[in-house]
Amino acid sequence: MKPLIAPEIEAYAQAHSQPESPIRRMLREETERTREDAVMVVGPLEGAFLQMVAQLVGARRVLEIGTFTGYSALCFAEAVPEDGTVITCDVDEEAAAVARRYFGQSPVGRKIQLRLGPALETMRTLSGPFDLIFIDADKVNYLNYYRRALDLLAPHGVILIDNVLWSGEVLKHPPPDERTEAIQKLNRTVAGDPRVTAVLVTIRDGVLVVRRNE
Ligand SMILES: C[S@@+](CC[C@H](N)C(=O)[O-])C[C@H]1O[C@@H](n2cnc3c(N)ncnc32)[C@H](O)[C@@H]1O
Repeated sequence: MKPLIAPEIEAYAQAHSQPESPIRRMLREETERTREDAVMVVGPLEGAFLQMVAQLVGARRVLEIGTFTGYSALCFAEAVPEDGTVITCDVDEEAAAVARRYFGQSPVGRKIQLRLGPALETMRTLSGPFDLIFIDADKVNYLNYYRRALDLLAPHGVILIDNVLWSGEVLKHPPPDERTEAIQKLNRTVAGDPRVTAVLVTIRDGVLVVRRNE
């Protein structure tokens, strides 16, 4: 992932935002030590942003598509109330085992339910409404996730979609690969969807914030 924001600006923003909890720091550091794909973790600044949105929405039920080692699921679990729930989906058993271990150690881990299996199949088994849905899994399915997420979303609920700037690749026409094309298509679809209001926020790799109008 190519950084889109100057590192010193990123560090300044992070230093002046809600810090990550000790358990998330331990999880992030273990992920960075043990996984080559650790860059997928949303990290402290985007994590603080996800928590802020969850709190502004007053989210009680959160759905996450793409658990990885559990960092963003912990962000949401820390942000929802005591009786809140976070359902998180992934296909990677090894990453899920790390996530489960940290959920077990966290005081908010009991709010999280991890569902192993292809997210579209898991989404078919779920009933709404969810107050907030975070999409952060395989990019080729982004439009499918968005469509299903809208069905599961509460009125005035929010969908957050990660990596929508895709290291700046979204500027390229024609798109260089299938994943870039899928993200461009998602961004165009959301921008033209009369059911929602959206803003593309330039945090990290770009987060699309989508609010259902009714
Ligand atoms: C970018 S990572 C998620 C990062 C996580 N949100 C965090 O902050 O640590 C994307 C995850 O999506 C998962 N994934 C890929 N295809 C999937 C699918 N079809 N269904 C569910 N999860 C999938 C991958 O295994 C990977 O763990």
